[in-house]
Amino acid sequence: MITPLVVGNWKMNGGQAASIQLARQIVRLLKNQPMCAEVALAPPFTALASVGQALRQSAIKLAAQNSHWAESGAFTGEVSAPMLGEIGCHYVILGHSERRHVFHESDAMIARKVAPVLAQSMRPIYCVGETLSERRRKKTLNIVTAQLDAALKGLAKGVIDKIEIAYEPVWAIGTGQNATPEQVDQVHSSIRAYLKNSFGDSKGKAVRILYGGSVKPENASILAAIDEVNGFLVGGASLNAESFISIVQAFAPAAK
Ligand code: PGA
Repeated sequence: MITPLVVGNWKMNGGQAASIQLARQIVRLLKNQPMCAEVALAPPFTALASVGQALRQSAIKLAAQNSHWAESGAFTGEVSAPMLGEIGCHYVILGHSERRHVFHESDAMIARKVAPVLAQSMRPIYCVGETLSERRRKKTLNIVTAQLDAALKGLAKGVIDKIEIAYEPVWAIGTGQNATPEQVDQVHSSIRAYLKNSFGDSKGKAVRILYGGSVKPENASILAAIDEVNGFLVGGASLNAESFISIVQAFAPAAK
């Protein structure tokens, strides 16, 4: 059985004080709950180290929202994987749709970031997903497959179990419009088939495939009940501790 993973992606919200406060609130609320999923929080870079401290006595893991492919050098404004490893990050989100579409990161650029994250013993959360126009043109599965190919094709077979995949349809992120269970099921099943084909049945079966895009307490249970949904990447709703916890609880055995 796969342990689900629920990641709160705080994006560019909250300074250091607000982030620590939110992290502490989540730690406190989760402490009284049976752990039904692994949980990670991805605060903005300036709050990473202090949120890491706030999470130290808890089972909640620290995640970064991005990293650069180089170890160091003349890359103004960037943060490298060794820097994130040094402050105790466990996960790094790579290829988030806002990185792809707002900051024009290409498949090739994102693919270069995977190995450096793995080299720090951190786990990439590799995001894929189609735009609305690609969905309308029935290109969803082609786009997702091309994105998977870009990052996973060159990897040694043995490392796939150190990677999480997140399916995030671009049109569902931050829009309040989430994909229907049928749409999620179709794409997640096709990602699962891709993983089994590329890495063999048992390795392909074990990779977590998260869903992201307007996950809220109101729709979390229905999405969590889909067979190939092994967790969530939560944006807006992760900025409220109660909402976030109720999304995590969608994976409680009775709920799933
Ligand atoms: P959202 O964001 O939950 O606000 O739609 C999800 C994400 O960007 O990871």
